[in-house]
Amino acid sequence: MASIYDLVYDRNDDIPFYLEYCKQYGAPVLELCAGTGRLTIPIAREGYDITGLDLSKNMLNVCRKKLAKERPEVRKHITLIKGDMREFSLNGKFRIVLIPFTSFLHNTTVEDQVSTIHCVWKHLSDNGLLILEIFNPGIGRPENIVWLDHVGEIGRGRTIMRMSTYQSDKENHVSNSTIIYDIVSRKGTINRKIVQFKLRPLSKNELVSLLEQNGFAVMALYGSISKKTFSQTDSKNIVCVARKTSS
Ligand SMILES: C[S@@+](CC[C@H](N)C(=O)[O-])C[C@H]1O[C@@H](n2cnc3c(N)ncnc32)[C@H](O)[C@@H]1O
Repeated sequence: MASIYDLVYDRNDDIPFYLEYCKQYGAPVLELCAGTGRLTIPIAREGYDITGLDLSKNMLNVCRKKLAKERPEVRKHITLIKGDMREFSLNGKFRIVLIPFTSFLHNTTVEDQVSTIHCVWKHLSDNGLLILEIFNPGIGRPENIVWLDHVGEIGRGRTIMRMSTYQSDKENHVSNSTIIYDIVSRKGTINRKIVQFKLRPLSKNELVSLLEQNGFAVMALYGSISKKTFSQTDSKNIVCVARKTSS
């Protein structure tokens, strides 16, 4: 996944949203599940100290390669750490912790969700912010079919196609996703990669209770990264800004 992540997930619509909170609340910032630095690097470019933590060595290596091309002033703002959002211990406290782009849903049990929130709490300074974006399970998604959800040109005459299929495992409260990536060369040769993962969907009410029961107060909740009002039936995403309160 690491080698093709930036080719298929080239969104940048969320960067201004996170930067707005950096401007208001300041650094240092901790990004959990930082991946290839899609968001980490633009935040550092604006002069904020940011630590990116991710479980995947390969994703972090892609980020390091990208960082090597950045100016030293940008590089000095970034620290990358291989670690698990459910159990990590870093020096110092952070003003903001970000868990962008549905990454919190990689916590596939309630125990994992709570461990992650506890770790975030421990690493935030007083009144620090936790900001996360997940998808809204209130929006039904088609199951047991394969759909084409992305086609893009990726240079040297190549095209990438992303096809997805999804099944929900109601007994275990998880969804099983399979994503097929076909990279089609100029000559028509196809290089296929298949990625499978589980996510644990979380409703707005479940998210709010999880946060409120674990030392956070929800400050804002949106239905999109552009701050649309949340609607259970229409919003594709849940974007939540929570403030650290008590122990
Ligand atoms: C959808 S990507 C998001 C990457 C990046 N934040 C972005 O917005 O482009 C999810 C990332 O979560 C990481 N991840 C999954 N489970 C994790 C865990 N338990 N602890 C830390 N990182 C994890 C994966 O390695 C992957 O890089």
